[in-house]
Amino acid sequence: MNELEKQYEVVGITPNEQLDLGDMPFGSNFFLLLKNALERLQANKILEVISYLPNVKDDLQSWCRLHKYEYVMALDAGNHYRHLIRKKHTSMTEAPDWGIRLPLRKGDKIDIRDWFEGRLGNILDHAPSYIGFVPRGAVAEPGIPDFNFKLNAKDEVWAENVTDLYEQAKENQWNATTDIPWNELPEISEDLEWAVCQIMTFLAENEYSALYIPAKFMAQINPHYIEVMMYLSTLVQDESRHIEAFIKRAVANGGGLQYSSSLTERSLHSLFIQDNYFQSSFLLHVLGEGTFLDLLTYIEEHAPDPVTRKIVHLAKIDEGRHVSYGIGHVRHILEKNPKMVQSLIDAAEERNKYLSGSGTNENSFLMEALAILAGGGRSPEQLKIGFKKVERLQEIMYEHRVQRMLQIGLDRVTAEKISSSHTENFM
Ligand SMILES: [Fe+2]
Ligand SMILES: [Fe+2]
Repeated sequence: MNELEKQYEVVGITPNEQLDLGDMPFGSNFFLLLKNALERLQANKILEVISYLPNVKDDLQSWCRLHKYEYVMALDAGNHYRHLIRKKHTSMTEAPDWGIRLPLRKGDKIDIRDWFEGRLGNILDHAPSYIGFVPRGAVAEPGIPDFNFKLNAKDEVWAENVTDLYEQAKENQWNATTDIPWNELPEISEDLEWAVCQIMTFLAENEYSALYIPAKFMAQINPHYIEVMMYLSTLVQDESRHIEAFIKRAVANGGGLQYSSSLTERSLHSLFIQDNYFQSSFLLHVLGEGTFLDLLTYIEEHAPDPVTRKIVHLAKIDEGRHVSYGIGHVRHILEKNPKMVQSLIDAAEERNKYLSGSGTNENSFLMEALAILAGGGRSPEQLKIGFKKVERLQEIMYEHRVQRMLQIGLDRVTAEKISSSHTENFM
């Protein structure tokens, strides 16, 4: 037994943790390391601090008094000192995780769907609004200010498929500068070019709403549900890319942005002023973007050039994810609380009331453009064919809206009622 071990035996103390500070001078780093080591220590345990500095005992004692630690004693180890400090209280109530290794998916990837392990995987049903930006799983020091987030319940924001959609979104990112064959844009008839430009104008302005509305809610979401935030950040990136691609197509072939109707702006305004996230998700993602999926399919089918076709094809894949989040989110809430269905009916009715006061009930420029696109031109015969196809499109949109509402758990009568009163603007 050496001299030091003998001293420990005499005082009857076994330190629980050790902090070797060597000859580090007595200053800010010395105290920073000491404070952190004591923070990590459990209550009533003893930290052994090794220091080669002479004459620090008195200063260490007063530091301990100030910070409510118990300075137990100093042991003389010959060429250095061992200061024993006891932690009487516990400032951190929990201990962080250590030793959890995430599995590799397909042998070499770390996928967000696999990160629900340990404390990181412990998702609360209600997150305190004062949790701030502390990553879920980290241990928060007391004294965090109240960030006052508004959406603090898991059920308000969560969708079971949100991490699947996040991984898919990263896989399917595309670039509106380099992934579109801009150099393959042919000369097309002026009528068709006008129809494409009018449709692109309409698509772009609707995309503005799809960008702004989720963005408006994002900062209200408690960071405890960070996966939802991460997914929505891909969604708003998708929408900005759609805006970019649609505007580029409108001006790429010597046409230009065309008319914006008051019906469209009123319809989008009625979405924009919605301040309930659940209702907004239903109106925007399930009904609006759902209807847009059918519109994009129609444009892709009748596109007069490869550029238009490719843009709407890629946008449609993105929109599929947006609709999936809306369906997953709304269905999650209705499964937990079926009575919430009334809130969806109310939202659809209120919106309808707001829009029916506008005096206009169709976007005539868009309808004309869609007919020209499908008919192949502006002759009476072509318009006749075109308007028939537009009529068919509206029937398909109606039926698919009903299908999506059945998927989230609405009954058929309610679904049909909401679908038939849906805005003529589609979004
Ligand atoms: Fe979009
Ligand atoms: Fe979208």
